[in-house]
Amino acid sequence: MAIRSILTIPDPRLRLVSEPVAPGEDVRALVDDMFETMYDAPGIGLAAVQIGVLKRVVTVDLAKKDEPHQPQVFINPEIITRSDGLSTYEEGCLSIPDVHEDVDRPAVTRVRYADLDGKTHEIDAEGLLATCLQHEIDHLNGVLFIDHISKLKRDRIVKKFTKAAKRAAAE
Ligand code: NI
Repeated sequence: MAIRSILTIPDPRLRLVSEPVAPGEDVRALVDDMFETMYDAPGIGLAAVQIGVLKRVVTVDLAKKDEPHQPQVFINPEIITRSDGLSTYEEGCLSIPDVHEDVDRPAVTRVRYADLDGKTHEIDAEGLLATCLQHEIDHLNGVLFIDHISKLKRDRIVKKFTKAAKRAAAE
């Protein structure tokens, strides 16, 4: 297990579409690294692309600080249905540190995914889990939560991170 570095915008890899995990492919080592990285950050969700691995793997843990870990793994997750009703959460992302913005998303979603043994499951996610899964599945398609806010705000955020990256590269 290892803590991996988390890509931040404007890293172009965050805009790529991740590949499905093949049947029988073992992603346990990747998942271990993802949990270790996510807990260290700390964050409640992570997509493999955020550590530079372009595979459709998502880790989630919505346990509160004083609760025991509740690790959840979603392999090749896809949204089957979305509710018309929306809910709004203030979202953040480990790849866009220190930025938080309200995002509207369908309040309930049915998600199909495989577990580490390759078994398929479907869940009806609501509340924070629904938002978190939609945010992470977006990552697998190269979409970031700032794509769901106004262009004006998004441009301002991207500009700030692009400047900082240039400054860091020049040092
Ligand atoms: Ni994110």
